[in-house]
Amino acid sequence: MNEKEMYQALKQKLERVVPDVELRYKAGLAVEINRLKKEKNAVILGHNYMEPALFYSIPDFVGDSLELSRKAAQTDKDIIIFCGVKFMAETAKILNPTKTVLIPSDKAGCSLAESITADDVRALKARFPGVPVVTYVNTYADVKAESDICCTSGNAAAVVQSLKADTIIFLPDEYLARNVAKETGKHIIIPTSLLSPHFRNSQLDANENNDEQKWGDERGAMICWRGRCEVHEKFTVQDIQNVRAQFPEVVILAHPECSPEVTAASDFSGSTSAMIRYVQETKAPQYLILTECSMGDNIAAANPDKDMLRLCAVRCPHMNQITLEDTLESLKQTRYIVEVPEEIRMRAFKAVQRMIAIG
Ligand code: 13P
Ligand code: SF4
Repeated sequence: MNEKEMYQALKQKLERVVPDVELRYKAGLAVEINRLKKEKNAVILGHNYMEPALFYSIPDFVGDSLELSRKAAQTDKDIIIFCGVKFMAETAKILNPTKTVLIPSDKAGCSLAESITADDVRALKARFPGVPVVTYVNTYADVKAESDICCTSGNAAAVVQSLKADTIIFLPDEYLARNVAKETGKHIIIPTSLLSPHFRNSQLDANENNDEQKWGDERGAMICWRGRCEVHEKFTVQDIQNVRAQFPEVVILAHPECSPEVTAASDFSGSTSAMIRYVQETKAPQYLILTECSMGDNIAAANPDKDMLRLCAVRCPHMNQITLEDTLESLKQTRYIVEVPEEIRMRAFKAVQRMIAIG
């Protein structure tokens, strides 16, 4: 596709959501990226949160964390460029040690991945010996290496159920843990004495059982951490009530990294791809997506007959680091190469592979 064709294709898809001048400029970058991608035998994986012009121009595959992990595991290309955040690119490397895995920015972190260390997981395992550890893929490789199995927002309940264990350590997203606990009939314990002072001092739910001394009497517990997604923790039940008051027909979708109160007040909760499918398959005229705001634009572009309300939209500052300009430089300069030490990779691989086998 030449620059003119790329511009026309982007215009057709995005003219309602992206200014024309931006589309003209980005079409040129996208064509150059696609040319280099072919020349270097690379594949580009793009997370659903990528900005619209990037999302609709350069990825060979787009999807949620689970779908992109599967694509990363299957590729036969020499280079994988991950247009997403660091933990996603690391997962691709864990699954493909012989490939060169690149991330366009070295600043694309994640508040959940930053919330827990491998030492924290070792301390939890020492405190609760023999209890299986499930970690969300939004963690770094050394944390995955301490885990029995990983999960994503798309399979978290299925992973927990697959373990057939009475008690489970589920890390590090407190809200995802609470949503999954509700779905799987477990109750939450937060081992406060193991949390860093920052987390320990935060407001505790009055109904929480935080008393570790009672451990041993407890059954059916999900022991969780106090990690939060800095985007999804911002959405409130009040936001939902305000929108429903103004738009009574609206269908509200929330990512499971939102609080259980927010997911309960919504009409649907699921992974980023599950939310995309839900809008495609639902006939309602108006939607509010409580997740990263670029995804709202991407869904709006794919569903011109439906109105996507952009109220309470929040952009993830980490996903926002990934641009067409940096992706082009990444291909030109073979930067930033994602490495995982082999000893850590092998242990993390077991946890990721076990998850992928479940679905
Ligand atoms: P998904 O796995 O649902 O794509 O979510 C990834 C993520 O980082 C959500 O904030
Ligand atoms: Fe991490 Fe939240 Fe950004 Fe997803 S949206 S990458 S969980 S900070």
